[in-house]
Amino acid sequence: MREKIKEIFIQKRHQFVSGEEISKQLNISRTAVWKHIEELKKEGYQFEAIRKKGYRLLNDPDDISKERLKASISTKWMGKEIIYLPEVDSTQRVAHELARNGALHGTVVITDNQTKGKGRLGRNWFSRKGKGIWMSFILRPSFPYHHAPQITLFTSVILANTLKKLYKVNFMIKWPNDIYINGKKVSGILTEIHGEQDQIHYMIIGIGINTHQIDFPEELKEKATSIEKEIGYVPKRIEFITYFFSEFEQEYLHFLKDGFAPYYKQYNNALYGKGKRIKLRQFNEEIEGTIVSIDQNGYLILRQDNGREEKVVSGDIFF
Ligand code: BTN
Repeated sequence: MREKIKEIFIQKRHQFVSGEEISKQLNISRTAVWKHIEELKKEGYQFEAIRKKGYRLLNDPDDISKERLKASISTKWMGKEIIYLPEVDSTQRVAHELARNGALHGTVVITDNQTKGKGRLGRNWFSRKGKGIWMSFILRPSFPYHHAPQITLFTSVILANTLKKLYKVNFMIKWPNDIYINGKKVSGILTEIHGEQDQIHYMIIGIGINTHQIDFPEELKEKATSIEKEIGYVPKRIEFITYFFSEFEQEYLHFLKDGFAPYYKQYNNALYGKGKRIKLRQFNEEIEGTIVSIDQNGYLILRQDNGREEKVVSGDIFF
């Protein structure tokens, strides 16, 4: 019931809604409405109350429930279908399950609390309750398998653009797909593909963004940061998700038509560590070199000590 009351206030944002109106609409007593409103206040919702007019929502907490997301998103397919889970082991696992059972292109699984978040290369992803955006979405692309790595690079560009647009801070991309600010990681992407050599059945793109995390565990302190830590105020997750979905949907059309080429300049502008000497770990091999740029296919160009430039398709960079 409380969720329904939330929905009414969110839909009628900036307008007064009377207790009577809600009680009629939901077929509950006015006392029950009042009790729910008192509970919502405890959750952090703020109302202006005027006699005979009712209540007007002034501010809602950083709520990313399905109702809240539905009221805010106006895309055609990206996030049209939303599965919100207050807690889950990994949104990635749930998204795979849904995709296997035929879930639509653009379906999003999002949670407030991930107990077993998965990172790239078998690592764990630290995802504390309410401190970030932990979501996975399903894509059913029409492009061939070998174009798949580029969608992750494309997603990094959209993420970096969203962060820049909303928070006016220059976020960098550490190849292939980590978002960095002031030398620390704020977001990571995990792409998993299910398909055959010449056909992708579905892709799951998992995104983890540290939005509100202030204290990180000892082992992450030097490596990780959050949007809040960097901008100095509390960002709203709903705002980020809404903007990101809309940008992603719009740009995805261009990506399908022209591939990664239109985005590689933006990626290069944000490329982290340009001119720096790095070690690149690839399977069991390690290459050393200086980062030059990425090319139109998203390959990393490394200059080796003998001056030769080498193109790298995948790997993990260490400074
Ligand atoms: C990385 O290693 O940088 C990628 C991290 C991806 C984490 C996200 S959080 C939402 C989704 N669910 C998971 O279990 N992992 C991804």
